[in-house]
Amino acid sequence: MSLALAAGRLLCPVCRSALDLWSPSGHRIDRPEPVPVERAACAQGHSFDPAASGYLNLSGRAAPANADSPAMVRARHRFLASGAYDRLAQAVADHLTQALAEPPDPAAADRPVRALAEAGVGTGHYLQRCLEAQTAPTLALAWDVSPAAARQAARNHPGMALLVADTWRPLPLRPAQFDGLLCLFAPRHLLQFADLLAPGGVLLLGLPEPDHLASLRRRLNLIGLRPDKLNRLLAQLPDRLTVVDSSRLAYDLAASPEQVSDLVMMGPNAFHGAVAAAPAAELEVRVRLLTLRRTS
Ligand SMILES: C[S@@+](CC[C@H](N)C(=O)[O-])C[C@H]1O[C@@H](n2cnc3c(N)ncnc32)[C@H](O)[C@@H]1O
Ligand SMILES: [Zn+2]
Repeated sequence: MSLALAAGRLLCPVCRSALDLWSPSGHRIDRPEPVPVERAACAQGHSFDPAASGYLNLSGRAAPANADSPAMVRARHRFLASGAYDRLAQAVADHLTQALAEPPDPAAADRPVRALAEAGVGTGHYLQRCLEAQTAPTLALAWDVSPAAARQAARNHPGMALLVADTWRPLPLRPAQFDGLLCLFAPRHLLQFADLLAPGGVLLLGLPEPDHLASLRRRLNLIGLRPDKLNRLLAQLPDRLTVVDSSRLAYDLAASPEQVSDLVMMGPNAFHGAVAAAPAAELEVRVRLLTLRRTS
C-alpha cells in the first residue's frame, strides 16, 4: 500500500513527465489506494521497479559516499527506538502541527487529504511522529539518498511512501503539492523545498545548535559543528519562504554506553571509525527548530 500513496505525485527522473504507478493486475493506480505497486513508468517508456521492501529507487545511480550505510542506519534505528530523542520528536510534531493548523490559504483547509514529506528521512522516526499527531487524513512521502535508509524506513513505517532520491538533484516530485515538509539534520535545498510546497505550506527544519552534544564531542574528540549554520541558512533564504518561528530546544539526557555508541555510529563520525569503548554520558541535546512558510 505505502508506495501507492505516491500515486499522482511523482515525475520521471529521466524525462520529468508524469510517472505512473501500476498494480500487479495491470491497472494504473490514479489515487492512493491499498494496492501493491509492481512498476513505475512514464509515457516515454522509462520504467522503475520497487525494491522488495517497498521503496522506489529514482536516483538513477549508485548511492554517493556520504549516504548513510546499513550499519549507520541500524545504529540510528536503535538509538531513536531507545526513546533518547523522544522529546525532540514530540517538539517536531508539535511545531509542524501548530503551523499546519494556521493555513493562510483557505484552500489548504479544504483539501481532502493533507500531504507531508521529509527530505533525508533516515529511518522515518520523526515523520511517523508527525503523522500520528494529525487528526485530518494525511499521507506521507519521503526520500533519502541512502537505499539502506529507505529500506529501513519502508520496513518501519508501512504508512509512508519511500523513495531513494538525491536532494541535490532535481527531485522526481510534482511541484507545489506538499502541505508540510520536514528536513532534520539532513541536506537542505531551500529552492527545491520551496517549489515542492503548496502555497501556504510549511517547511520545518531541524539544525544542531553549535553547542549540541558539546561535552560528548570534546570527550570523544568527535567532528565539530559549524557555529554559523543558522545565519548562513537565513542569509540564503529564498524570497518565497518566510520564517514564522525559530525555537531552541534544550534538554539533558543520561545516556547508556549503548546509546552513546549508537549516537556516534549513526552520524558522520561513523565514517572515521568505531568508538573503542563508549562511556555512559550526559548528553546535551540542543537543536534549533525553524518553521518557515511558503508565502508566494
Ligand atoms: C544525520 S541523518 C538524519 C536522518 C533523519 N532526518 C533523522 O534525523 O533521523 C542525514 C540523512 O540524510 C541523508 N542524506 C545525505 N545526503 C543526502 C542527499 N543529498 N539527499 C537526500 N538524503 C541525503 C543520509 O543518508 C541520512 O539518512
Ligand atoms: Zn521518462
